[in-house]
Amino acid sequence: MKNSVINTKRPVDRRSFMKSGILAGGAAAVGAGLLTNGTSARAQERGRLNEGDIAILRFLAAAELIESDLWTQYAELGGIGNNQPIEVNPTPTPPLNNYQVALSNLDTDGPQYITSNTLDEVSHANFLNAYLESRGAEPVNLSQFATLPGSTAQGSSLKPRLTNLMHLNVDTSWFVRYRSTTNPDLGASFPQAITLNNVTAIPRNDADFNGAANSNFQGNEHIQAIANVAAFHFGMIEQGGSSLYAAMSQKVTDPEVLQITLGIGGDEIAHFLEWVDFAGNGVQQPVAPFKDPISGLSFPDFFNNPPLKPATLVQPSLIFPVPCEFISPDLPHVAIIRPLTDRFAGAVAAVASLTADGLFTGQSKLFLNTLQGLAERADAAIRLAF
Ligand SMILES: [Fe+2]
Ligand SMILES: [Fe+2]
Repeated sequence: MKNSVINTKRPVDRRSFMKSGILAGGAAAVGAGLLTNGTSARAQERGRLNEGDIAILRFLAAAELIESDLWTQYAELGGIGNNQPIEVNPTPTPPLNNYQVALSNLDTDGPQYITSNTLDEVSHANFLNAYLESRGAEPVNLSQFATLPGSTAQGSSLKPRLTNLMHLNVDTSWFVRYRSTTNPDLGASFPQAITLNNVTAIPRNDADFNGAANSNFQGNEHIQAIANVAAFHFGMIEQGGSSLYAAMSQKVTDPEVLQITLGIGGDEIAHFLEWVDFAGNGVQQPVAPFKDPISGLSFPDFFNNPPLKPATLVQPSLIFPVPCEFISPDLPHVAIIRPLTDRFAGAVAAVASLTADGLFTGQSKLFLNTLQGLAERADAAIRLAF
């Protein structure tokens, strides 16, 4: 979606489109119910999944619980509000808080997308755990680790969290990687598009909605900077999910498990695409350039003042993956998801990336060890003859 400031008229009314989508979804759900019954019968015939497939699904369930936790925090403060069903309330409930306004400046449908992404993650986690149980395997429960204090800003449920969105080191190199013709799986590395260290992606308290406590700052740059951090973080999380599912898909054995990893993985890519556009809108007019005088964060206009050369490496409107080298430098460039190998896209790599992100700041050693154990078992899986 092209960005525009809030309150501008929408070029397209997507409500009718969404309604037809929901009807189609309803029909699909009826079919899926029948399929589920058939699947359980087949599962009983086939018995238990092999250990590799179980390890992959269990790590993915853990990753989805983590995604659900972080996205719920975004949705409570920046989504369309109060767990409204998506088909009933496709726009935020007024009055908007300034975080919703700032997110809407990046895309007028931003709050809807945040709520939708959250519902998707919860559905991924619920499905994976239910599927594990349906195949006689143990589901994953991380609720004992939901102990971190979250935002105290109005809108927050104040419940204890699994993840921490208030001290992030957002890796923004994905923004460059997907505009580059080189590939991490073939040895390439990428600089940061913008440096975001120890920053918050959500309003931590009510003061963050405007300026900060004891500040005379009256502008909106502070909350816009927080929304912009969130935008780059959304992309970082969802590109990681896209690569992770692609890496795991190469290792699963059971065709039904492959259906799951391809199906959910495709949804991660769908999310990623929106957030590529969303983040790009934070670094071009009319939002950028601007500076938050409280945090000191600056967001340049990447069109007129690109932080890297050549400028195409950060061009905000290049939202699809630019063709890059793949398999061998001798082959023609091709537009793909990347990375795809265990080394950069596998489960252990995902845990390292989320940890470096600061998402687990304040978490216990036991939590990190539990996650690492799940990741190592998933990466150890290999495709067997089925
Ligand atoms: Fe997910
Ligand atoms: Fe995701």
